[in-house]
Amino acid sequence: VANDLYTQLIQLGTTREDVIIALGGGVVGDLAGFVASTFLRGVPFIQVPTTVLAQVDSSVGGKVGINHALGKNLIGSFYHPSFVLIDPLVLETLDERERSAGFAEVIKYGLIADKTFFHTLQNNIDSLIQLSDFKLLQTVLERCCQIKVDIVQADEKEKGLRAILNFGHTLGHALEAVTNYEYFLHGEAVAWGMIGALYLSEKYDFNQDIKSVIHLIEKLSIPELPVNIAAGQIIHAIKRDKKRKRSGQVWVLLEQIGHAYLEQNIPTDLVREATEYMIRQKVGI
Ligand SMILES: NC(=O)c1ccc[n+]([C@@H]2O[C@H](COP(=O)([O-])OP(=O)(O)OC[C@H]3O[C@@H](n4cnc5c(N)ncnc54)[C@H](O)[C@@H]3O)[C@@H](O)[C@H]2O)c1
Repeated sequence: VANDLYTQLIQLGTTREDVIIALGGGVVGDLAGFVASTFLRGVPFIQVPTTVLAQVDSSVGGKVGINHALGKNLIGSFYHPSFVLIDPLVLETLDERERSAGFAEVIKYGLIADKTFFHTLQNNIDSLIQLSDFKLLQTVLERCCQIKVDIVQADEKEKGLRAILNFGHTLGHALEAVTNYEYFLHGEAVAWGMIGALYLSEKYDFNQDIKSVIHLIEKLSIPELPVNIAAGQIIHAIKRDKKRKRSGQVWVLLEQIGHAYLEQNIPTDLVREATEYMIRQKVGI
């Protein structure tokens, strides 16, 4: 698709004075942004995200990219849009499963950065998913973007802090990989991954009941894990994660609700325990 877009841009006689508008979900935003960042070594672009996930996450922060047949998200760059236009009304046509999956990332922001925000989500998640309170929805979307902006401004190229945005993503990416990117929406896999990461957090410093957090995740109506999924497969996929450093896998854990930190080299036995805990949960529908 990227190649087709380059072809069309050449045929249209596009110059650096033109602008590319990415109107769509995260796939469109990442693709259009990548094409904008590389065509003529950079054409300005604008993000108009139309899914919950794109409005709170992928349109902000400057990561753009395309997939390769051998791996997701391996080719990309950092390229910021001139601006991001977020209109919550467009979410009315998004199906409920997509909306719900996007709210996994919303919950993630509360968990990693803002306890009060997390409590707002606990009290209002149903009305948010149902889009029945647009005023609150707008505040929630804004808060997510602000949290992401603050983190990205402190560490744009993910040398450290930015990695906390990946809470739940180590196991989440592994789940997406072992199910061939066909079974889960991204947010759903992250929701499951957060359950495993909560278990690990509890084994370290997190001394609150993780059940109440899992209860909130449960309200997202995510699909169950496939029946034949095994911890060994997931661990194998984690070892192939692109975010893995030569020195080992970096995990994002919670010290408390609203405060995340990075933990490196968690023993494989503990990772297996967390994976098995996640598999045992009866959260999905
Ligand atoms: N760049 C980043 O920082 C970043 C962060 C997170 C995720 N991502 C990427 O984002 C992608 C997922 O994005 P997504 O969840 O938005 O999925 P998506 O772009 O595939 O959109 C989901 C579906 O919703 C449809 N759709 C979009 N807006 C709609 C609307 N308003 N009404 C009706 N249908 C609509 C799309 O056509 C698509 O079928 C993944 O590829 C992921 O890797 C990027």
